[in-house]
Amino acid sequence: MERYIVEGLKRLNGEMEVHGAKNAALPILAASLLCDSCELHNCPELSDIGAARNILEHLGCTTKKEGDTLIITGGEGGCTIPDQLMREMRSSIVFLGAILAKYRQASLTFPGGCELGPRPIDLHIGALKRLGVTFQEEGGSLRCTVKGKLHGASISLPFPSVGATENIMLAASLAQGHTVIRNAAREPEIADLAAFLNSAGAKISTAADGTIHIDGVKKLGSAVHTVIPDRIVGITYLCCGAITQGDLLVRKVNPEHFSAVLPIFEEMGCQLRCGVDAVHIRSSQRLRAVKSIATMPYPGFPTDALAPIMALTAVAEGTSVFTENIFQNRYKQAWELERMGADIKTEGRVAIVRGVPALHSAQVYCTDLRGGASLVIAALAAQGQTVIHNVKHIVRGYQDLDYALNRVGASIARE
Ligand code: EPZ
Repeated sequence: MERYIVEGLKRLNGEMEVHGAKNAALPILAASLLCDSCELHNCPELSDIGAARNILEHLGCTTKKEGDTLIITGGEGGCTIPDQLMREMRSSIVFLGAILAKYRQASLTFPGGCELGPRPIDLHIGALKRLGVTFQEEGGSLRCTVKGKLHGASISLPFPSVGATENIMLAASLAQGHTVIRNAAREPEIADLAAFLNSAGAKISTAADGTIHIDGVKKLGSAVHTVIPDRIVGITYLCCGAITQGDLLVRKVNPEHFSAVLPIFEEMGCQLRCGVDAVHIRSSQRLRAVKSIATMPYPGFPTDALAPIMALTAVAEGTSVFTENIFQNRYKQAWELERMGADIKTEGRVAIVRGVPALHSAQVYCTDLRGGASLVIAALAAQGQTVIHNVKHIVRGYQDLDYALNRVGASIARE
């Protein structure tokens, strides 16, 4: 099992570049199933992207990586996602809408739970039924069929689910007629998927209140697209600068995409300067606690930023309170941070973090992707050498994190 060995207390200084967004690239890879061919620039090199490429190739496409460009050529393949590939990546469910749009049938196994808790797909199923999909569940597998063609519908999501919104967009793009998605997710990754689909010939527009309108078209052509920067990786890099009292310029980001998080860095005592595609962070004294953070759908504070920010509050002056409103289990990294000397009490959706003057090294284990990132952030500020096990969780969503941090003064060895 791969691990990071982190020598703590190194101040980070210099420039970092953020790679393309995992959570934009994944639904766009699913959408590429509907295109003749596509060229995806700024596509990150991540194990989750590798898993999505395996699914595309299983479905008859060919994929080729040239630097940070991924070239996908459409092909006729099956309409089944095998269990092993579904287990490899929970968000494979986003292929369902694309497979249904292409083949009007699909079979796959339920994505099952993950480290963050159960990953239900009831909102996906309810919405796709309105587009004309029939579902049969057979022992953990889902058999989906469409009588005739997919047809447009008016859909109101009870919760602005990112994945459900993406699945509806994919299926409705080639459905007959007009589809409206009310209470759709508004994450930047949704807009990026719409931009990709429109560049391939889809007709998707978003109203000021976030309602998405889709006019189905007969077929999609080819597309060339540049994936938006990964906002959670950008936030993670800023956290690394903040916790080491460093001086970092984080480039190739869109500061608009994390407007709910930037004020938190300032509340904690960091100096920030935002440009069009970069954020400069400096922190010259001990961080201050954050009164309260509640995670919300975009544009609220993103759930994926909770764990990285929690690492900062572990060494901040004062007590910080978190409320996680999106996933059931966002606090698994708390036990690992406590092994490094953090003082964190969790009760259901609430976590109370009493800042300590310093963390110490320990053997810690990644529990999930963003929890793993929080351990790296904490280790950068811990006395001594921290060993972080199971970094397979981290490489799902962070491209060469050790290399990127070592370039600005960290000391991380990967074994
Ligand atoms: C996407 O997950 C992201 N993943 C997550 O990032 C992110 O945390 C999440 O959106 C929220 O922003 C990708 O884009 C690949 P949801 P998704 O559907 O689509 C419940 C990371 O670290 N729900 O908005 O699964 C669900 O259980 C990952 O990069 C239902 O109840 O998020 C959860 O509690 C982690 N029924 C909440 O809604 C459904 O049918 C949010 O889920 C679907 C979801």
